[in-house]
Amino acid sequence: MSLKTGESSSNIEDLTIGNLTAHVIQMSTKGEDSRVKYLTAKLIQHLHDFVRDVELQTDEWEVAWQFLTRIGQTCTPERQEFVLLSDVLGVSALVDAINSKQTSGATESSVLGPFFSDTAKVFENGESITSNSIAGEPMLIRGAVLDTAGKPIPRALVDIWETDGNGFYDMQDVEYNEPDCRGKFFTDTSGKFYLKGVKPVDYPIPNDGPVGEILQLFNRDWYRPAHVHYMIMHPEYEKLVTAVYSRESKYIIEDPVFGTKKSLVVDFVWTQDEALAKTYGISPIERIMGSEKSRGFWLLERDFVLVSKKSKGGRKINDTVV
Ligand SMILES: [Fe+2]
Repeated sequence: MSLKTGESSSNIEDLTIGNLTAHVIQMSTKGEDSRVKYLTAKLIQHLHDFVRDVELQTDEWEVAWQFLTRIGQTCTPERQEFVLLSDVLGVSALVDAINSKQTSGATESSVLGPFFSDTAKVFENGESITSNSIAGEPMLIRGAVLDTAGKPIPRALVDIWETDGNGFYDMQDVEYNEPDCRGKFFTDTSGKFYLKGVKPVDYPIPNDGPVGEILQLFNRDWYRPAHVHYMIMHPEYEKLVTAVYSRESKYIIEDPVFGTKKSLVVDFVWTQDEALAKTYGISPIERIMGSEKSRGFWLLERDFVLVSKKSKGGRKINDTVV
């Protein structure tokens, strides 16, 4: 193995295709944290196995590290290309699936996506998360947060974000200077939340960077079905990161980031209910529905069920499940 001070070079053992992996793992797992040591050892093992398996060529390895360099260089405070890469490779969806082993009756989770930002302001229920100049058709978003027994959960924090009516998140706007189409709300004593937003539309994930190279290389779609993101938190319950997706979207089957699930598909309902508009202070608009003019607004109603906080622990530290 490696040469120590005072040792003769005759003690050097050549590192080979066969023994290099064990040597690197042994050199890289001397820390105290059992989980970190386990993750590191497995990562090195799988990476090396991949390189051996495909007999990776030097020029291919250069393409790979240059690609990852471009991924990093594309990241800014407003753009997360690494999360996007994880999304389009299905890693985010896989991590989500592993971490959201379904409790009966609980709302399913979905991918966080690259457009979450913790900059959203806290609003009072009923307020609008959109600025006056935002493009889009008005939508009333309301629902309740419940436990698995159907009991309302008051004071749950509901963080919501969505695109505008042109399919852009606030941070994609070159003139972006403050949060828009995103906001935080606390559920009331009945576990309910309600706000004014706009009807989100199908939108392209950013395809002008290195992740776009992958999409174009494999002729993949880069439109996501219209959706609204939710992150719901309460000290006594597991955090829920999810989204609800428009049934009418033609991209609902082939979501490029693999976030859609049957239970999360909803209808954005067009309503002409004037009393409802008045109650929530919605300004109806006129649009063509079918072949006729109609005056109304969109309604998104969806409840969410949280599970009680699980005890920590249970992370694998070796190949025996603990
Ligand atoms: Fe999104």
